Amino acid sequence: MMSETGFSRFGAFGLRPGGGRRFVGAGTKMYLSYGETLAWLAGLRERFDGRADVGVFALPSFPALGDAARILAGSSLLYGAQNAHAEHKGPFTGEVSPAFLAEMGCSLVELGHAERRALYGETDEVIAGKVAGALTSGLVPILCVGERQRSADGRGAADFVAGQVRAALGSAGTPEAALIVAYEPIWAIGQAESAPPAYIAPVIAAIRAELAATWPGLGTIIYGGSVNYDAAPELFATGVDGLFVGRASYNLDNFEKIVQAVAEA
Ligand code: PGA
Repeated sequence: MMSETGFSRFGAFGLRPGGGRRFVGAGTKMYLSYGETLAWLAGLRERFDGRADVGVFALPSFPALGDAARILAGSSLLYGAQNAHAEHKGPFTGEVSPAFLAEMGCSLVELGHAERRALYGETDEVIAGKVAGALTSGLVPILCVGERQRSADGRGAADFVAGQVRAALGSAGTPEAALIVAYEPIWAIGQAESAPPAYIAPVIAAIRAELAATWPGLGTIIYGGSVNYDAAPELFATGVDGLFVGRASYNLDNFEKIVQAVAEA
């Protein structure tokens, strides 16, 4: 029996002494080299280990996960992967199983990112299988959802996004399980600016309502898509538990400004 799981590590993650939950995650996509990733992980530990007001998690490329385990050992930071297969073993050349990730000390796994849906044909059905596989290994899925086209306002996207959450979760949850839903409107990823907070807020409310109705475990929500420090306070005020950062996390001074902005929001 596993004594520690992603679920148990995530239980206390980002909890503020005064109540509520605040965390900021960063994924390297395929931007950083191996050497850059090692320096980035060491820098994250140096800057954020032991921070009581904001939890920080990191999602490096697969081959750096063993280094993440070593560099972040005993720290308050969590780490995980950017993808996983649904199955735990079998003839799936080039794939990585959630059980393998859990064995490496990963707490989290990002699933269904917009780039994977668009470039690697991941459907809601495929993602539902991956979510179920991750949960079986005690990994916290970071389920990425978001609409392709900007609608007139967030209310126009809310039903679609809540439907994506429903499709991916099925009846997979248990009371011990934990989940992060990452709302990442596709049109706002990789841009100069994030989606407007007034657009985001009704979508977050719809995800929250969907989780309340169907998800029995710990359910948290983050926003991602061109997050930077100037918008971070307003983005955090949309009702999320945290923010999810791509490009703006690779420079650690910049990333620290985002974490600080969330701490002060
Ligand atoms: P970005 O990436 O911050 O570079 O837009 C966000 C994401 O895809 O998670």
